[in-house]
Amino acid sequence: MIQIPRGTQDILPGESYKWQIIEDQLREIATNYNYHELRTPIFEATELFERGVGGSTDIVNKEMYTFEDKGGRSMTLRPEGTAPIARSYIENKMQHDVNQPIKVFYKEPMFRYERRQKGRYRQFVQFGVEAIGAENPLIDVEVLSMLMHIYQSFGLKNLKLYINSIGDHDSRKAYNDALVEHFKPRIDEFCSDCQNRIDTNPMRILDCKKDRDHELIQNAPVIYNFLNDESKAYFETVKEKLTEIGIDYEVDYNLVRGLDYYTHTAFELMSNAEGFGAITTLCGGGRYNGLLELLDGPKETGIGFGMSIERLLLALEAEGIKLDKPKGIDLYVCTLDDQSFNKAGTLLHELRTKGISADMDYKQRKLKAQMKDADRKRAQYVIVLGEQEFESGRVELKNMENGETQNVQIDELVKYLED
Ligand code: HAM
Repeated sequence: MIQIPRGTQDILPGESYKWQIIEDQLREIATNYNYHELRTPIFEATELFERGVGGSTDIVNKEMYTFEDKGGRSMTLRPEGTAPIARSYIENKMQHDVNQPIKVFYKEPMFRYERRQKGRYRQFVQFGVEAIGAENPLIDVEVLSMLMHIYQSFGLKNLKLYINSIGDHDSRKAYNDALVEHFKPRIDEFCSDCQNRIDTNPMRILDCKKDRDHELIQNAPVIYNFLNDESKAYFETVKEKLTEIGIDYEVDYNLVRGLDYYTHTAFELMSNAEGFGAITTLCGGGRYNGLLELLDGPKETGIGFGMSIERLLLALEAEGIKLDKPKGIDLYVCTLDDQSFNKAGTLLHELRTKGISADMDYKQRKLKAQMKDADRKRAQYVIVLGEQEFESGRVELKNMENGETQNVQIDELVKYLED
């Protein structure tokens, strides 16, 4: 039997309503903050991610679904949304738009060849927002407040926001130099990934899952001490404004994020709900001031976040929050014989085109089984069609909630249900 690829999932009809509720709510909140949808292709030139996300990252090194197209170009299934949005900003010359920053959201499947684990998929749906074209701590705060608003709007309580500043380019460089000096003499005590990171991206050593208890990580230099005055002032304003609007956060100086483009504000939202599983990150993001230039674009800066719907669902489950099931169909039509079965299709057609959701049993089972089916489909009303009903032109319309019946003319069913 052919099986679904590892790390992917079918979202079955009985479950898809949860996705629809979440997606609608995300869209509504983003629109309230005046962010609008930008859709980019599912695949992009591999170089976009190599340059944008960074050659030293796990995403680019280990996780990309890369293929050669029939024209011999290297393409990659999108592993994240920021680099494509930056590409689109540049390509569509959005820097000339009078509305700056350009505020967009996306909700798209992303692909990463990761080891299968709870909350970690090879195809997942990431919702993200990006505000590109203005640099001001207030925009960072806007993005963070939207992020908290989203999770709180679903009733989640066990949330913990961690923030850090990676500083500007100069601060980042000074810090990286200090880390190399700190780790280099004893780098052979670290995993092979960290031994590579010392040359390519030393900050990522702080984030290593394998070596996190090593004493050199515990007593590593702290980034805050390497931030220049400007970067410190930026970070202080972000923190002040967050406090002003009542957003709780904790500063985590080891939070460096797994992608190379970050500068200044970086953040992650974690769930501390019991039973959430090992991967507790719900959402991550930050400011990326050099990304557009790195992609040969204008000197514009941006900030955003990405979150998967899969992990949001896990958080809801861990906190016992249920999403409302959609209402069932308006009407279920039971049929007693071939004649009524054949005529029921016409009636259904008429009802549906008038906007009434209706269904029937195409297997022509016994009445009892049809009634059960109506129950399963959570029909609000049921009618039974037989010879007698067609002769009289009237049916008993049964309200399934209170059991009451009403004798209605078949011709007037639509009008009655519409009312
Ligand atoms: P990221 O931290 O790589 O950042 O991913 C953001 C979020 O995507 C994670 O917090 C998680 O919710 C979800 N996610 C990532 N990988 C998986 C996976 N394998 N399975 C399920 N969910 C996953 C970014 O992607 C940046 N583009 C975020 C950003 C936007 N930064 C600035 N703007």
